Amino acid sequence: MNKFNYKNGNLFCENVPVKDIAGSVGTPFYLYSYYTLLNHYRAFEGVFSGIPHITCYAYKANSNLSLCRILAGDGCGADAVSWGEIRRALEAGVPPGKIVFNGNGKTENELENAVRAGILMFIVDSEPELKLLDRVSRRLNRKARVALRINPAINPKTHKHLATGLKESKFGFAFNRALAGYKLAASLKNIEVKGMHMHIGSQILEIAPFVSALKKLISLIPSLKKSGINIEYIDVGGGIGITYQDETPPTFKEYADAITPLLKKAGCRVIFEPGRVIAGNAGILVTGVTHVKSTVGKRFVVVDAGMGDLIRPSFYDAYHEIKPVNGSSNSKRIKVDVVGPVCESGDYFARSRMIAGVKEGDLLAVFSAGAYGFAMSSNYNFRPRAAEVLVKGSNFYIIRKREVYRDLGRNEVVPGILT
Ligand code: LLP
Repeated sequence: MNKFNYKNGNLFCENVPVKDIAGSVGTPFYLYSYYTLLNHYRAFEGVFSGIPHITCYAYKANSNLSLCRILAGDGCGADAVSWGEIRRALEAGVPPGKIVFNGNGKTENELENAVRAGILMFIVDSEPELKLLDRVSRRLNRKARVALRINPAINPKTHKHLATGLKESKFGFAFNRALAGYKLAASLKNIEVKGMHMHIGSQILEIAPFVSALKKLISLIPSLKKSGINIEYIDVGGGIGITYQDETPPTFKEYADAITPLLKKAGCRVIFEPGRVIAGNAGILVTGVTHVKSTVGKRFVVVDAGMGDLIRPSFYDAYHEIKPVNGSSNSKRIKVDVVGPVCESGDYFARSRMIAGVKEGDLLAVFSAGAYGFAMSSNYNFRPRAAEVLVKGSNFYIIRKREVYRDLGRNEVVPGILT
């Protein structure tokens, strides 16, 4: 499924040598494989063909227009968390009926735009949001379809920043207030209750937390029925982990086998919001080695990408596999820190990592960078953001140009007093 492979010691993306792309585009750049992305989506779809569902790819993982087009063109919907992401989905060709709107801080303006766009559902995070959405829909003379995000208070056993369904998390309705939330929703004239939603976290490596959370959600259905509230959709969110190093996340089939019987019994349509499992291993970050330097007892490989390009190691202490793009993988491994050029000690990609001998001018591939890579990038240190490149078969395409100095200052305004 994964189409980043070594042939005679040279890294290829599908049929294209990565070094050829680097020669043409320069470094650093993100590189995506068309077929890896598509295959991930199709494999996910495949295991759920037996139940009525919509897969809404989480745009936050990577919202590059070309990648979104690949998925939308194959029938994939969108999980958006801002009006910008909804626009992006529409632009990519996702029909409004396949878009859900998540997030805990939707503004009046965003709600209004989304109501006008006629999206499938608002995943409502709180009572104040419900009331605001009702007011907005009334003004527009519409009814907004909603699912309430329920916080099942389940520990997904992932990095603390990636858990979203703990009792103390900021997201959703507390489990014991869900019923009251639904009653409020049902009482609002311009709200139509459609479903329930959960998303317990990200990079989850075990199935049990998904099952426990889903069971908790489903347990609410009978009491809702008694109050005349019907649940048509269950949105189970995203969160399945991927292999960065040696993790063994559940396979799609194992995930499906565990939750499909529960979903079938509940008799609802299902929405999935996978992000990382679709885009994560469909992309790498290619960076050039600027310097190799030694300090007392340490050796540093300084590369031309930094925390502004891929913040996951700095932010979550996340592991990303790093390998030379060419040749030297058989050469002796030495212990190094791979660091970027940003003026922060936290600007690193790997610490005390055994890597095949690298020298100035070499290219390195940082793997599993397709999700939450470019999407979280910044211009810190006044650095232009990287280019993005797509390979399909034997061809490659620049799908986002490298930023230039002009782009960085585009929105700055110098007041007259300073000219
Ligand atoms: N649905 C909701 C409501 C979400 O908040 C998220 C991710 C997803 C779906 C997709 O989750 P996934 O399938 O990708 O795990 N920046 C972090 C990840 C943050 C995830 C936020 N929410 C990282 O780099 O690991």
